[in-house]
Amino acid sequence: MAKVVVTGKIPAVALERLRAEHTVDAWEDESLISRDELLRRVAGTDAIVSLLTEKIDAALLDAAGKQLRSVSNVAVGYNNIDVPACRERNVLVTNTPGVLTEATADIAMALILMSTRRLAEGERVIRAQQPWQWGMFYMLGSSIQGSQLGIVGMGQIGAAVARRARAFGMTIAYTKRSPLDAETAKELNATHMELDELLATSDVVSLHCPYSPETHHLMNASTIGKMKKSAYLINTARGPVVDEEALATALQQGKIAGAGLDVFEKEPTVHQALIGLDNAVLIPHLGSATVETRTAMANLAVTNALAVLSGKTAPNLVG
Ligand code: DGY
Repeated sequence: MAKVVVTGKIPAVALERLRAEHTVDAWEDESLISRDELLRRVAGTDAIVSLLTEKIDAALLDAAGKQLRSVSNVAVGYNNIDVPACRERNVLVTNTPGVLTEATADIAMALILMSTRRLAEGERVIRAQQPWQWGMFYMLGSSIQGSQLGIVGMGQIGAAVARRARAFGMTIAYTKRSPLDAETAKELNATHMELDELLATSDVVSLHCPYSPETHHLMNASTIGKMKKSAYLINTARGPVVDEEALATALQQGKIAGAGLDVFEKEPTVHQALIGLDNAVLIPHLGSATVETRTAMANLAVTNALAVLSGKTAPNLVG
């Protein structure tokens, strides 16, 4: 039996699969585990099942020790893990692609509709019991039918958002290192563009690229400045892909029409300037937050950990 540390609460069905085969030390509190507690618990562990809220860096890997074989993130994004540091120590890293694609695409589409149709703003009026009246010019938004959605980072989630957007009558432009294969490009009727052209021509820009040093503040004062004044920026990827300060300024000054954000630069803190802006829709990192999806994510992370511990090839190796 190997020792496995689980850094946060995961669905019981997944935890039980681990417990059936190994000695599991799981942090089962709703609150996050403290760094000190985590450093203490990982000592001597063979595998770590990690949540995106825990930083798996060189110091933590050293605290775990030389027997550590794998880190299995319960997320598709793995910017919380220092992959090169893992590689140097022969620690395998896995993530959970695929199982959260549809749930995350649903949230991106919801943010597109919430932003362009001012839904959160309207709800705030009713909840605050402010006087309102149907009016020809009351709280008008923008129609998305016939408008262009620019997908930055056309991976699985980007493609799933594109499918939804097409059902709403949007046309699709995208950035991707290498263009889509002919079949998918045809299915999505999607046009490959460089980032500048996509920003200048899209009515909604939706971010789906992984977070890395290359994508840090990809959307900054200069790139946001290339968007149409009437356009909306949607982020369901990772917060630091957007310079929040620059975004807040652009929204305040009407340089773009609105933004819909599921992720934030310094989660769970949200930039104070965004809080008071009616043209910013702000939701608390809910992309994968359904019972079914979170269960599938935890199960996939456990499948990956069990594979490594039994000497098999893990299905979702990264790096
Ligand atoms: C992921 O898997 O990276 C998501 O952000 C989790 O919600």
